[in-house]
Amino acid sequence: MAASLWPNQATFIAVLCIFSSTRALASHVPLLIWSSDSLPPVAPPAAGHITSSSELSAFLSSALSSGTHTVLLFLQDKLSQDDFTRYGGVFGNKEDSAFKNIEAALQSHSVVFPALEWTGSSAVPALLAEKLGVSPALVAPETFPDLQMDSSVNNLFLINMPYCGQDKPCRETLKENDETVGQVLKTLEDKKVAYTALFTGVQPSRVIAELSLSGTPVGRSLLQTPAPPAVPPPIMYNVSGNPCIMLWAQNLNVSFTETEIWTDLAQQTPTLTGSFCNASNSVLVLTYTGGITLSFFMSQRFYPVSARAWFTLDRVLLQQNAVTVSFSSRLVSAPAEYSYHCQSVSSFRDALLTPINTTTTWKVNLIDFQIQGFSLNNGTNFSYASDCAGFFTPGIWMGLLTSLLMLWIFVYGLHMILQLNTMDRFDDPKGPCISVPQTE
Ligand SMILES: *[C@@H]1O[C@H](CO)[C@@H](O)[C@H](O)[C@H]1NC(C)=O
Ligand SMILES: *[C@@H]1O[C@H](CO)[C@@H](O)[C@H](O)[C@H]1NC(C)=O
Ligand SMILES: *[C@@H]1O[C@H](CO)[C@@H](O)[C@H](O)[C@H]1NC(C)=O
Ligand SMILES: *[C@@H]1O[C@H](CO)[C@@H](O)[C@H](O)[C@H]1NC(C)=O
Ligand SMILES: *[C@@H]1O[C@H](CO)[C@@H](O)[C@H](O)[C@H]1NC(C)=O
Ligand SMILES: *[C@@H]1O[C@H](CO)[C@@H](O)[C@H](O)[C@H]1NC(C)=O
Repeated sequence: MAASLWPNQATFIAVLCIFSSTRALASHVPLLIWSSDSLPPVAPPAAGHITSSSELSAFLSSALSSGTHTVLLFLQDKLSQDDFTRYGGVFGNKEDSAFKNIEAALQSHSVVFPALEWTGSSAVPALLAEKLGVSPALVAPETFPDLQMDSSVNNLFLINMPYCGQDKPCRETLKENDETVGQVLKTLEDKKVAYTALFTGVQPSRVIAELSLSGTPVGRSLLQTPAPPAVPPPIMYNVSGNPCIMLWAQNLNVSFTETEIWTDLAQQTPTLTGSFCNASNSVLVLTYTGGITLSFFMSQRFYPVSARAWFTLDRVLLQQNAVTVSFSSRLVSAPAEYSYHCQSVSSFRDALLTPINTTTTWKVNLIDFQIQGFSLNNGTNFSYASDCAGFFTPGIWMGLLTSLLMLWIFVYGLHMILQLNTMDRFDDPKGPCISVPQTE
């Protein structure tokens, strides 16, 4: 009879992962069953399916039907699938798993119920007692090797194991439990006793986490979570119905006065009259109420040095009524097939926008700014963003400079040490001169 085999640990973890990501809100605990003999097959449960007590009862009836059985129930105080995903071996890396022995045991005849219905207490001990017709014998793992076992009758051994406490890292506790399982199984194998083992929890370990982690937006949870704030669509300039320039910004703040009274243009919908685009030049002209116009001039060119085309934002013009201030912005640049993104582009804090009229009091501050004037390929999404922050974020700079300073101090110190010479003669006016024999 074909038992339900788990080819390897990766599948085991993968299946548990799938189940933990599609869990329902009802409480459940995982149940792992393995046996030295074969187990009846179970159909792979559908994702998110919670095995009911009656389904488990039916399974145990067929698994424990004929003959006598020695059944071990490893009952951990708490257990959830998260424990397997968090502390189990990562794919291909069995070494750091806290469930090494259990995972190894599952390689043989095993059945996994990722989610067993849980209603206040574990139904498993009672079910097993009912199926076997014996009451569970609580055994301490240390005394297990000395236990007299009569395999001509049904045996049900219950081994309680703790769950993570405050005094120890969780991984340690789970590892020790896993060692316990390993030792007990080894004892049985040494005694050549056929067995069926079950591993489950008295209760789920992460009831609260399950409620908040439940990622699938189903029914009730949809109503419970407030809708995320609507993100306004990007400003699009279309040529014959196809987008050719796109711009998005959290804030398009402009100020025309000395005392910085900011107006956020992103709150208004502009008209795009005067915008223009062809293969090498793009101009986006945003006209707002109050006679304010903000224009972006972009061009793209092929640079043989980098063997690719780059686009630059050449100029940004801010106009109010008849007055125009021009900002040079040639540092805003990206490969032509990308978009350009920057958390902040301002005319006073960084060099990205430099006023050409140096006497001006007008200021521009663009927050979370993204622009693309080329290579949109008729799509309505920005291409991959070339970010102005790039690799050298302030944190990296600080780290780099600190290391350089340390290195400089070290080299300086080393240099000083190497400069030290032993005196070739020690001054002792009374004694004879030290003579160092010269070897040829
Ligand atoms: C530009 O085209 C896109 C998609 O084709 C459309 O969603 C958008 O509303 C258009 N914008 C304008 C200003 O016509
Ligand atoms: C931009 O302007 C808006 C509205 O005046 C203001 O709430 C926001 O704080 C400003 N942001 C910056 C970075 O100046
Ligand atoms: C794009 O427009 C600019 C400005 O009008 C013009 O100088 C350039 O030749 C045009 N390029 C192409 C490829 O049409
Ligand atoms: C800024 O300079 C441009 C050209 O140099 C000029 O036309 C414009 O009037 C100047 N604007 C102000 C506010 O000085
Ligand atoms: C974009 O659409 C225009 C007109 O519909 C078409 O001529 C052009 O080939 C399209 N470009 C791409 C890259 O799909
Ligand atoms: C644009 O992005 C949305 C959301 O990320 C995606 O669903 C859509 O398929 C994308 N459209 C194109 C044409 O790539």
